[in-house]
Amino acid sequence: MKTLLYNPSQIITVDTKGTNFKRGTQQNDIGILTNYSILVENGKIKKIFPTTKIGNTKYDTKIDLSGKIILPGLVECHTHTVFSGSRSDEFNMRLSGKSYEEIAKAGGGINSTVKAVRESGFEELLEISKPRIENFIAQGVTTLEIKSGYGLSFYDEIKLLQVINELNKIFSIEIIPTFLGAHTFPPEYANDKEKYVEIIINEMLPYISENKLATATDAFCESTAFSSKQVERIFSTAKNLGMDIKLHTDQFNSIGGLDLALSMNANSVDHLEVLSEEQAHLFNDSETVAVLLPGVSYSLQYSFAPARTLLNNNTIVSLATDFNPGSSHINNISLVWGLAAFNMKMTLNEIISSYTINSAKALGCSNNCGSIEIGKNADFAIFNTHNYSDLLYHFGNNLNCMTIKKGEIVFSS
Ligand code: NIG
Ligand code: FE
Repeated sequence: MKTLLYNPSQIITVDTKGTNFKRGTQQNDIGILTNYSILVENGKIKKIFPTTKIGNTKYDTKIDLSGKIILPGLVECHTHTVFSGSRSDEFNMRLSGKSYEEIAKAGGGINSTVKAVRESGFEELLEISKPRIENFIAQGVTTLEIKSGYGLSFYDEIKLLQVINELNKIFSIEIIPTFLGAHTFPPEYANDKEKYVEIIINEMLPYISENKLATATDAFCESTAFSSKQVERIFSTAKNLGMDIKLHTDQFNSIGGLDLALSMNANSVDHLEVLSEEQAHLFNDSETVAVLLPGVSYSLQYSFAPARTLLNNNTIVSLATDFNPGSSHINNISLVWGLAAFNMKMTLNEIISSYTINSAKALGCSNNCGSIEIGKNADFAIFNTHNYSDLLYHFGNNLNCMTIKKGEIVFSS
């Protein structure tokens, strides 16, 4: 099956010439092609060629993209999309001056969502999540990461991972499950934290790995959550089981999570709101991606991660919504782009490489998605504009009008 995507105003390839990530200044180089078309064969990118040469090209179907632009399908690499309940009361408490950490210490925060998730069955969680995923697809997302982490017991963490795996079967985009059993300590182990770490290591991780419920293990290294020593034990077990690792760290405190994750070659370190200038040097030459989450800083009215310092230190920078019921109830990618530009001083080109090839790198799948290169999956986000600079100009609005996964239209408006 051959499909021709013809006559777009621009194709933003984010071509990496085979490296499959961009770091530092390379993030500004996004490969803008005008008057080019794309031939897709059996779900893969077969040819990228001048539109004037269309006459020689054989195809089965064609899609007219006149007046539109093509980007690589967006890769949303950090979300907590499967949850039940609402934290709107906490949101309002924050607006009247209570901090996120104070609310968490008083029994709210992550553990209030844990209570709701434990009371929800598989089907309920599945149904709640579907429109959230449809919303991401309607914004051009073709690869979506979803973490567990609101179950925090063997039964409920497995239930969440099973829901995420089922969603991956239902939707035609790729949904990548991440195990986040080390999100925080559940109330029943508040006074026996060691026991909970042992349950993760001895019970949850072996079962998840054996049943292939997740390919990566995440944790939250923070003074209110897991210490770097505890994370190290969890990560060592995960790595021995052949899993990838990634870490929520340096959101409120630097307690050694960053050094640990870099030394263990984590796929990504996420948050970094309190990263210092000195620490940014730690990323030099590292292939660990710095995933920045400006929606969290905005929602919590908190410091933004130092994107410019990281880019100046040649870091591989990525961005994500961190969509969750607490710290970032934001699923609007265009708004996140606006925040990255206004509050982290990132350029539009850097933002685009962050949301495509570098987020694919963070998920370990940049060899087959994240850029428009021959041989990669034909995953595209089509935007209704002639010029990609409109993507930031209209921040907060969704200009996506078509999403294509492996050559198939999965959303069109
Ligand atoms: O990425 N930092 C820890 N975890 C989530 C927040 C989850 C929540 O508040 O429910 C985050 O910000
Ligand atoms: Fe998160």
